[in-house]
Amino acid sequence: MKLQEKSQINSQHTVQSHQRRPQSNNMAEEPQIIYAIRIFFEVIWMILRLDVEIIKALFRFVVPQDPKDVTEEIILITGAGHGMGREVATRFARLGAKVVCVDVNAKGNEETINIIKQAKGKAFPYVCDVTDRKAVFELAEKVESEVGVVTILINNAGIMPCKPVLRHNEKEIRTLMDININGNLWMIQAFLPAMLENNYGHIVAMSSMAGKMGLRNLVPYCGSKYAVRGIMEALAVELHEDPRDTNGIKLTTICPYIVNTGLCTNPRIRFQTLMKTVDPGDAADQIVDAIRREYHEITIPSDLYYSNKLFNLFPPAGGKILTDFIGTGLDPQD
Ligand SMILES: NC(=O)c1ccc[n+]([C@@H]2O[C@H](COP(=O)([O-])OP(=O)(O)OC[C@H]3O[C@@H](n4cnc5c(N)ncnc54)[C@H](O)[C@@H]3O)[C@@H](O)[C@H]2O)c1
Repeated sequence: MKLQEKSQINSQHTVQSHQRRPQSNNMAEEPQIIYAIRIFFEVIWMILRLDVEIIKALFRFVVPQDPKDVTEEIILITGAGHGMGREVATRFARLGAKVVCVDVNAKGNEETINIIKQAKGKAFPYVCDVTDRKAVFELAEKVESEVGVVTILINNAGIMPCKPVLRHNEKEIRTLMDININGNLWMIQAFLPAMLENNYGHIVAMSSMAGKMGLRNLVPYCGSKYAVRGIMEALAVELHEDPRDTNGIKLTTICPYIVNTGLCTNPRIRFQTLMKTVDPGDAADQIVDAIRREYHEITIPSDLYYSNKLFNLFPPAGGKILTDFIGTGLDPQD
């Protein structure tokens, strides 16, 4: 059966299963006192479960989950021909995984494959433009028959035009949204069905700190990276509410700040120690670790995770005062 059809059947299954669910708010005939008692116990039960989750999270903060073995995994990485994609691909190959390298740039992709093969790793090159939905579904079929079922999908391909919003033309904005957002969606639609069938898999998305805070000269890019986080949050809810067992499918969102891959050409940083730029190899180490430990979301550098949460507690005007003081951002590329 074609993957596209499988994807539609999967989605129908979810809709139908949800339609079959009993409506829990149909309490018309229930006496009010019974209703009140039931809600009381539901609240107690909810608080207990929340407490357990908070304790589990605190425990995991102190004692992180062991990194998983990836020797049996088939890991597909988009944008594997350069930057963080290449670094992540070479690291997973070194750990013994089969790595499927996907890029629109055949030359860069071949270079990554050669690096992996020279180190005796297992790598498989595929040229594909993630904005082309048909090509993405054909890619999924080819990879499944030639390499096997992808168990870890890393949606990494992305671009970042950097200039004031009024200087972006229509084509630039559409291309940016197509690669950074739609590319993620096409890949998820093509590769999630097999993960659902096996209740096994891991989807990783490359968002950005620009997906957690607004930055000058990056209005469309920030929009696309907030969207990536939105997609991952909504997917988590959809999997959680799916009546099938989906516990075997993990999701991880990566939010780097500035990584020296050449994507950010004009960073301006006031306090170097506070907001340091990161080497692509160091970023890849943190990405691979986060995937192996099945973290929900990480920032790179990691301390930005908490400073960003703190930042969001301030009223909007307070946020602007902090932004002015920190004075960090990107200057236009052209
Ligand atoms: N570098 C940073 O500072 C930084 C910070 C935050 C987030 N990110 C995100 O991390 C990801 C990787 O960034 P990077 O700096 O390694 O980028 P990069 O430019 O070094 O590499 C991106 C790769 O994606 C490929 N690609 C572009 N369009 C494609 C398409 N349509 N189909 C398939 N492949 C395509 C490119 O050919 C390239 O090989 C991006 O999503 C980026 O937005 C980067």
